[in-house]
Amino acid sequence: MKNRLALLCITLLIVGSSYCQNEDSKSLTVLEPRVEYHENPEGLDVRQPRFSWILKGEGRNRVQSAYQITVASSKEKLSQDQADIWDSGKVVSNQTNQIVYQGIPLVSATKYYWKVRVWDESDMVSTWSNPAYWSMGLLKFANWQGLFIGHDVGYNKADKYDSLYLPPARYLRKSFSLNKKIKKATAYTTALGLYELRLNGNKVGEANFLPGWTDYNKRLYYQTFDITNNLREGENVIGAVIADGWYAGYIGYALLVRLDRVREFYGVNPSFMGQIQIEYEDGSIETIASDQTWKSNEGAIREADIIMGETYDARLENAGWDTPNYDDSQWKKPKVYTYPNGKLEAYPGTQVKNTEILKPIAMTEPSPGTYVFNLGKNIAGIAELKVQGPKGTKVQLRFGEILKNDGQIQTENLRKARATDTYILKGDGVETWKPKFTYHGFQYVEVTGFPGKPTLETITGHVLSSIETDASTFGSSNAMNNTLFKNIKTTQSANFFEIPTDCPQRDERLGWTGDAEIYMRSATYNSDVAAFMTKFLVDLDDAQRWYGAYPNFAPFPYSRPNQYAPAWMDAGVIIPYNLYKVYNDTRIVEYMYKGMEKFMQFQEDASTDYLRPGGGNNWGDWLAVNEETSHDYVGASFYGYDAKLMAKMAEALGKTEDATKYANLFENIKNAFVQKYILDNGRTIEDTQTSYALALYFDLYPNDLAEKGAARLAEKIEKNGFKFSTGFLGTKHVMLALSKYGYDDISYKIFQQTEYPSWGYSVENGSTSIWERWNSYTKDDAENSDLNAKMNSFSHYAFGSVAEWMFQHAVGIDTEDAGYRNIIIKPAISKEMDYINGSYKSINGNISSAWNWKGREVQMKIEIPVNTKAKVYIPTVEISSIKEGNKAISKVPSITILESNGEETILEIGSGTYSFRVKGVK
Ligand code: BGC
Repeated sequence: MKNRLALLCITLLIVGSSYCQNEDSKSLTVLEPRVEYHENPEGLDVRQPRFSWILKGEGRNRVQSAYQITVASSKEKLSQDQADIWDSGKVVSNQTNQIVYQGIPLVSATKYYWKVRVWDESDMVSTWSNPAYWSMGLLKFANWQGLFIGHDVGYNKADKYDSLYLPPARYLRKSFSLNKKIKKATAYTTALGLYELRLNGNKVGEANFLPGWTDYNKRLYYQTFDITNNLREGENVIGAVIADGWYAGYIGYALLVRLDRVREFYGVNPSFMGQIQIEYEDGSIETIASDQTWKSNEGAIREADIIMGETYDARLENAGWDTPNYDDSQWKKPKVYTYPNGKLEAYPGTQVKNTEILKPIAMTEPSPGTYVFNLGKNIAGIAELKVQGPKGTKVQLRFGEILKNDGQIQTENLRKARATDTYILKGDGVETWKPKFTYHGFQYVEVTGFPGKPTLETITGHVLSSIETDASTFGSSNAMNNTLFKNIKTTQSANFFEIPTDCPQRDERLGWTGDAEIYMRSATYNSDVAAFMTKFLVDLDDAQRWYGAYPNFAPFPYSRPNQYAPAWMDAGVIIPYNLYKVYNDTRIVEYMYKGMEKFMQFQEDASTDYLRPGGGNNWGDWLAVNEETSHDYVGASFYGYDAKLMAKMAEALGKTEDATKYANLFENIKNAFVQKYILDNGRTIEDTQTSYALALYFDLYPNDLAEKGAARLAEKIEKNGFKFSTGFLGTKHVMLALSKYGYDDISYKIFQQTEYPSWGYSVENGSTSIWERWNSYTKDDAENSDLNAKMNSFSHYAFGSVAEWMFQHAVGIDTEDAGYRNIIIKPAISKEMDYINGSYKSINGNISSAWNWKGREVQMKIEIPVNTKAKVYIPTVEISSIKEGNKAISKVPSITILESNGEETILEIGSGTYSFRVKGVK
C-alpha cells in the first residue's frame, strides 16, 4: 500500500509536490491550530505564547513523529514559506500542545501568521494546517496614550441599605476624519466599570461584560479588536457606553448582610480608556486616544447594575450619537479619572458571549395584565423585548427560576437582587430592546405594563456564558440520567460567567472557591475551560490572604477578616492541579507555585501534629442531609489531599526536592489522620458517608483497611436506601470512592435514584438545572417562601460534580498522565444499565467510549485520537472471549494484550476506532 502511495506521489511530482501531498489520503491532517488555547487571539501579552493543534488520521496507531511551526509577519510571506519570524525546523517530537514560541522577540501591536505541519509514524509529512494568526497587544506602558474618561452624573445617595442607588450609564463619543487609505486599524480599550465599544453605529466585537472582573486594585484587563473593516474614509465615530459593573455597582450579598460597603468596592465612577491605532497604506501611523477632546453625556440607559437590573428610557435616546453627522455641541467635556495602582494586561480568559437564543415555549397570564413567558430552561442571560405602543408606556420585566402554585414567578430566592428591567417606550413603531450591563438567572420572564396583549414573539431569551459546553456527549439507557446530563451542562453554562459563580440569580454570583474546586474536573469534561480557569486562577492568586489562606471567593472585594474555610481555600491547589492534569499545563502551576507554597505553610502553622483543624468559616460538608462530618475531619483530609497534589505538581515542574518534601508531608498527615480518625475495624470515627468518601478518595486509608472502609461505605449507602446523606464535599467523592473500590453497582443505584435526596428527584420534579439543595423544591412546596427566601438557588453547579464520575466511570474516560496522552478507558460495565455512551473532546482530540449489553455479550466501541494510546480495561479474564471486529484480539496486530489479572483483561491500543465483543462479563 505504501509503495502504491509513493508511486502516486512520484507520478504527481511532475504536476507539483503539494498536489502530491493532498492526494495522499494517509498522511495526518492538522486541525484547530490554537495559541494560548484561543483561536486566532487578538492582543496577547504573553511574550512566549504556546501553540497547540489536533491531529486526524485514518487507520490505527497513528502518531506524530515530528512537527514544524513557521511564523511570518504577513499572510503572503507565510504562504510563500518565508518564515521571517520563526521557523522551528523539523522538530522530532510527539508534542502537540504546550509548545512554547522560540522565535525572535515579539513586538507590541503586531500581527503574526503561523502554520504547522507534522510527520507521521512513517515520516510522511502532512499538508500545512490552515494559516492561523495571533496579535500582540500593547506591551509597554509607553504605548498607551489614553486617559480614563467618564461623565459626571453627580452623586445622590441618601441611604445605604434601604434604597438602591443606581446611576445612569455614561456615553462617550469622538468624531474623527480619515483621509488616507487604511491598511490596518486596531482598537485597544478598557474601562473601570463595564463598557461597550461602538464604531460608526455598531457594537464592536461580540463579547459582553468587558473588560471582565478582576481585583481592579491589582490589575485591569484590556481588549484588542481588529477594526480595519469598521472604519472608512471621511468622518468616523468611536463611542463607548460605560456603566458601574463590578467596579462600582452592587456585588454579592453585601446589602443582605449590611456590610459597611454595599457597592463601589473598587471606585465610585466608571471610566473608559483606550485608543485606536491606524496604519495607513503609506506606512504612517495615527493614534486616536481617549482624552478630553471626546464628548460625554447621559442617555437612554437610566439604571444599569449587574444584579439589580437595567432601565431604559427610549425617549432619552440620543439617536445617531455613535454615527457621523451628529451634533454633539450639547455634550460635555469628559471628566478625567485616575487608575493609579494596578497593572494593565491583556484579557487571558474567555469572555461572556451570547451562546444561544431561546424562543418561549409558553405564555400564561396568571393575573390580569401579568404575563409569564417560559423559556424552557433555567439559564443565565437576558430577555429581549419587542413592543409597540404609546410613548411613555413603561414595560417591566422580572425574572424567576420557578413558578409558584398560582403561576406567578417566585422571586423570594433572589433575596436583595432586584433583577428587574424596565423599558419606557418612545412610541414610534415596533421597538426592540435588550439590556447591556445586567444579567439574570431565570427560566421565566414576567412582563407587566405591556400595551395590549403580548404574543410569544414579545420575548426572546439570550443565553449568556463565557463557555460553550460542547466538549462532551453522554447517553444512557436511563432517560432521567440523560436529562440530568443536560441539566448539568445548562447549569455550567449559566455559571461559567466571567468567573465560575455559585449561582446566577440571587444577590451573590461570586466565585466561590469550594464550589469551583469540587466541580473543576467535571467542568473540564463538558467544556474547554483552560483559558477560563487560567483567568480565574489569576483572580484567586490576587485574592490570596496575606496570611496564606485562599479566600472563600475570588475576586474578593470585601474587606472582611478570616474569610477562608477548609475545602474552599484548597481550591488554590486543586484547581491548578486539574489544569495540569487535563491540559498538561505546567505554566499555570509555575504561576501559582509561590502562593501554593505559602498556603501550605499557612496550613502547617495551623496544624498540630500534622492535623489541620477546621477553622475560618466552617461550612464542613455544606448542605449535607441527616449526617454531619466534623469540620476538623474535613480540614485534616483536605490538607492531606493538598500535600499529595503538591508533590505531583512539584514533580511536574522538576522540583524534585519539593516533590519529596510534599510526599513526606502527605505520609505524615496520613499517619496522623489514621491515628485520629480510622479505627482498627476500618471504620472512621465519624462513620458518615462523607468521611469514608474523602478518606478513600484522598488515599488516606491504610492499605490493609481501605477495602474494609469501602465496604462500610457501600453498606451505609445500601442501608440508607441507596441515597446520599452528603453535601457539597461528600457528594462528589462518594461514587468516585465506591467505583475505585469496585462498587460500581452501588454507584449506579445512587445515580438512578429518584427519591429525595437524589438528582433523579430534581429531574422528576421537572428541573432543567442543578439545584443548590437536595430539597430545593417539591411540587407541593412551591409556596414555601421561607426556604426559598433564605438560600435556594436552582442553578448551582456544585452537585453537578457527578459529571466527573459519569465520564471517569460510567463512560470510562480518564487520563493516566497529564493531558490525555495515555488514556484510560475503563467503563463501569454493570447490569444496572443497558447501555452507556459518551465522548470527550480532549486537548488531543475526541475520545469516545460506548458499551451495551447484547444478550449475554457486551459490546464496546472505542475511539482514540491520533498520537495517543489507551489502556482499555475489559471486565473478563478470558482473553479468548474478546473479539475485535470479528477477530480474536490475539490476532489483531494493532492491539497489545497487557495483562489478564483474574478480574479483567487490560489491552493497549493506539489511535483509531475499535469495536469489541466480550463474552463472560458478570
Ligand atoms: C454559596 C455557596 C457557597 C457557600 C459557602 C453560599 O452562599 O451559594 O455555593 O459555597 O455560600 O457556604
